[in-house]
Amino acid sequence: MLSAQERAQVAQVWDLIAGHEASFGAELLLRLFTVYPSTKVYFKHLGFCPDETQLLTHGQRMLEAVGVAVRHMDNLRAALSPLADLHAQVLRVDPSNFPLLIQCFQVVLASHLQGEFTVEMQAAWDKFLTGVSVVLTEKYR
Ligand code: HEM
Repeated sequence: MLSAQERAQVAQVWDLIAGHEASFGAELLLRLFTVYPSTKVYFKHLGFCPDETQLLTHGQRMLEAVGVAVRHMDNLRAALSPLADLHAQVLRVDPSNFPLLIQCFQVVLASHLQGEFTVEMQAAWDKFLTGVSVVLTEKYR
């Protein structure tokens, strides 16, 4: 569980991202597909162009879901339940992909926020995104 301070750090960073979900999300996906090409097999319908509508749309949906998680840090399991069903039972995304996405997420944050993204903020985001991933992957068994 996140401490009060870690929650505040997650929320503080989210305030800087909110409103830019599509562009941040598309950049995150491009990093993921480029750094870890094995992840692209789940997204055959997407290309590699940052302006591509489908990439921006999926990026936006993914980041909006992260926004929901930020607003429901106390109740992640209930807030993300339909998304957990989707990833586990419909999409069957291998759980090993989640740490790869978390890593790329942190690089996107660091490259945009630079000095504003402190070591403590990275630690809080790592913990938060790991919690989100646990919820999204726990319905596999
Ligand atoms: C779909 C969020 C991790 C693969 C989605 C959707 C959301 C989402 C909101 C759209 C759901 C809908 O249309 O109803 C997230 C979040 C993640 C995460 C918050 C982690 C923090 C992953 C990972 C992969 C993945 C690691 C695979 C590498 C997919 C695929 C779809 C999808 C293939 C369907 C795309 C489509 O139909 O166009 N995800 N996801 N997700 N996700 Fe994730």
